[in-house]
Amino acid sequence: MTPQTATALHPPDSNGLDPETIPKAFAEQVLEGLASHPKRIPSTWFYDHRGSELFEQITELNEYYLTRTETALLRGLRADLARLPAGAAVIEFGSGSSRKTPLLLDALQTPASYTAIDISGDFLRQSVRGLQLRYPQMNVQTLEADFTAPLSWPAALEAAVRQQPRIGFFPGSTIGNFTPEQAVRFLHGAAQFLGPGAQLLVGVDGTQDKARLLPAYDDARGVTAAFNRNLLIRINRELGADFNPQAFRHVARFDTARSRIEMHLLSPTPQTVRLLGQRFTFAEGETLHTENSYKYPVAMFQRMAHASGWTPHQHWLAPGAEVALHWLQC
Ligand code: AVI
Repeated sequence: MTPQTATALHPPDSNGLDPETIPKAFAEQVLEGLASHPKRIPSTWFYDHRGSELFEQITELNEYYLTRTETALLRGLRADLARLPAGAAVIEFGSGSSRKTPLLLDALQTPASYTAIDISGDFLRQSVRGLQLRYPQMNVQTLEADFTAPLSWPAALEAAVRQQPRIGFFPGSTIGNFTPEQAVRFLHGAAQFLGPGAQLLVGVDGTQDKARLLPAYDDARGVTAAFNRNLLIRINRELGADFNPQAFRHVARFDTARSRIEMHLLSPTPQTVRLLGQRFTFAEGETLHTENSYKYPVAMFQRMAHASGWTPHQHWLAPGAEVALHWLQC
């Protein structure tokens, strides 16, 4: 992405926003996405404070099978996870609320350290505080970074971690929110970052049943719809746009050929939106594509792991579901 100066984002009508405070990467990606055909915005922008709260509510919905299925799976794997190397450095990618972390840490033999990597610094520090209290013997540290880009260790952390067996942890099927190419790039980067001999545990949803998928991404209470529309509220607040969130309909569809759930915001009538000095027109029925959630059956994910330098060692499937935990080695 080309770096932009603040003046490049000083449009004639930015709704009174101070151009110095307009988040540039957000502005660039939204402007580029609204100018594309079809219109799209990367799903990483869902997670402002309200978006993170709404996502937490989604994880508790009856229809959203993924979190509780993966949690139950991890709970049942205590004995298997105890076979992972003892005295390890555990590194979690996109740790968020770190709610599943104790399920791994409690199963491992005397983990030496835990490093939480997340882009949201405040959220990160808040969630690891509880972990440090719960595991006083363990060295708990944070790395505020975008794990979708190549990662490097700060010198102080690297020295300690290199001496210990390394176990990467990436639960929640967040890998499904990348494109397959991005997922391979992430896995490849994780192999470089964790180093030879490392282990990686990845949660992957492979559900193909539409009757299960569609309500999970379009629930009866409308929490997922609110999560989707919150993106427009964020764009209005942070970029001074004039979206009317209620004038867009939440849509979830399953693309069988691509094995992915797509979320869109559909404009039932023609409308024009102003943003940073530009106008974007939505035709009747046109959508803004806001998220992909790829569903990788086991063999498909294992091929991606191979292609990125990992060897699938073992995997476990939740009883009666297609939610898997993959153990990879490099
Ligand atoms: C974070 N991620 C794995 C969720 C998913 O299922 O793709 C995000 C989500 N989107 C709608 N509901 C949940």
